Amino acid sequence: MTKVCVIGHPVTHSKSPRIHNYWIKKYGLDGNYDAVDIPCENLREGVAELVAKGYRGFNVTIPHKEAVLSLCDELDEGAQQIGAVNTVVIDGGKLRGRNTDAFGFIQNIRQEAPKFSFAAGSAVVLGAGGAAKAVVHGLLEHGTPEVFVLNRTKEKALILAKSSLAPDKVVIANWDERSKVLEGASLLVNTTALGMEGKDTLDIDLALLPRDALVTDIVYTPLYTPLLVDAKKRGHKTVTGIGMLLHQARPAFQAWFGVMPEVTPELEKMVTA
Ligand code: ATR
Repeated sequence: MTKVCVIGHPVTHSKSPRIHNYWIKKYGLDGNYDAVDIPCENLREGVAELVAKGYRGFNVTIPHKEAVLSLCDELDEGAQQIGAVNTVVIDGGKLRGRNTDAFGFIQNIRQEAPKFSFAAGSAVVLGAGGAAKAVVHGLLEHGTPEVFVLNRTKEKALILAKSSLAPDKVVIANWDERSKVLEGASLLVNTTALGMEGKDTLDIDLALLPRDALVTDIVYTPLYTPLLVDAKKRGHKTVTGIGMLLHQARPAFQAWFGVMPEVTPELEKMVTA
C-alpha cells in the first residue's frame, strides 16, 4: 500500500486527506493519505520517521513549508524560487521537494476562465506572503508583462520582488494605493487573509478596474468572499479560491501514484461540504 500524508501543526483543519483519499478511491488505487501533526521542534525527527515507516511522500502545510526546504535532498525550480516546499516525494530515502502552488493557481484560472490570457495585460497582487510568492511566480512564468504587488508591510513586497523570477516586471506600490493601481489591469488577485471568515473585509474600490478584468481570491472560506461578490455585481468574471487548493494537489498525487487526477464539480462539492 502506498502511504502518504500531510504534515503540519496543527493539521486537523487540512482538507488534503479528503482530496487525496477521494482520488485514491476514484482511481481504484491501493493507498492511504493521513494527517500527521509534527511540532516545529520535532520536524527533522518527524520527517525521518515518515521515511523509516516507508511513506511515499507528504504534503507540507503551515508552519513547515519553509523549514522542510532545508531537509530536502533535491528541490524543483519552483520550490527554490518561491522558497517553500508544499510537496515531498520520497525516493529511496531521498527527499525531493516541490512547490505546486503556482501550478494550482494557474490551473484554477485555466479551468474556470479558459478565455483569460495571462500574457494579455498587467496583474495586481494583494499580499506578499507565501501564497503571493507562488502566485507571482506563476504569473511571471506564464508571460504576465507587469505584476503590481501591494502589501500592508511594504518591505515584504520589496523582498518578494527582488527574489522573483523577473524583478524588472514586478512593480511595488503602497498598500494605500490599492484602489488606484487597478486602472488598466487585467487581473486582480487577493492573497491576503482579508475576507476570510472571522477576519476583516478587504477594503478596496473596484471602480477603476476595467470591466473585462478577472478577479480571483485565494481565500475559500467563504467560497464567495465580499471581494468576489462585489466584483461579480460590477460585471467582472470571478474565480473562487477553492480550485487553487484542488489543483495544487494534482501534481503531488501524480508524483506519488502515477495518475494525474481530475478536478470535478463532485470533488469541489465534497471538499466544501
Ligand atoms: P500566506 O503564506 O498564506 O500568504 P501569510 O504569510 O501570513 O500567509 O500572509 C498573509 C498576508 O495577508 C500578508 O501579506 C499580510 O500582510 P503583512 O505582510 O503586512 O502581515 C496580509 N494581511 C493579513 N492581515 C492583514 C490586514 N489586516 N490588512 C492588510 N493585510 C493583511
